[in-house]
Amino acid sequence: MNEPGKAQRAIVVFDSKFGNTGQIAKSFAGGLQRAGFNVDVFNMRDVTVGTLVDYDLIAIGAPTQAFTASKPMKDFLAKLEGIEALKGKRGFAFDTKFAGRLSGSASKYIEGRLSKLGMEIVRPRQSAIVKKSEGPLEQGEPETFDRIGFEIGTSLTKTSTKGLR
Ligand SMILES: Cc1cc2nc3c(=O)[nH]c(=O)nc-3n(C[C@H](O)[C@H](O)[C@H](O)COP(=O)(O)O)c2cc1C
Repeated sequence: MNEPGKAQRAIVVFDSKFGNTGQIAKSFAGGLQRAGFNVDVFNMRDVTVGTLVDYDLIAIGAPTQAFTASKPMKDFLAKLEGIEALKGKRGFAFDTKFAGRLSGSASKYIEGRLSKLGMEIVRPRQSAIVKKSEGPLEQGEPETFDRIGFEIGTSLTKTSTKGLR
């Protein structure tokens, strides 16, 4: 819960095989920072799941692989099960993927897991499009995620408690 005068904390956790999802994670984090959030960005490999409870907003992103979230990200999400303190935390899911309805979506999977943990999804999941498996990202995707980070951050810093929303 927010305390007046104290910056809210966000953690952006990502998996990335070729670096594209990492790049999007950093753009998103930049937008949140501009909105006044205190933000940490971590590759999932470097996160101890217990530390997530220290944050007000938890954003999780992964590359879409075989129509769903990458295997390492699925394993990471499985480790969050049973952490009661995640209930009621704010969450946001994102991914990178190919264009098209038949490509599947990592963020659909991630968002589903976050909801199941009892988290409040602050904005519907969002995908950044890659041109090929190894990238690059479609033009404008980093800027889009910077803007989304800013918008989410602004909306959450305006509403000082959940009850006022
Ligand atoms: C093994 C593998 C399977 C993939 N399967 C899909 C898929 O089902 N749908 C899709 O949109 N993209 C698929 N892709 C493309 C990835 O989404 C793309 O590599 C990723 O977005 C790049 O992000 P990264 O650089 O963070 O790994 C696949 C890539 C790999 C390597």
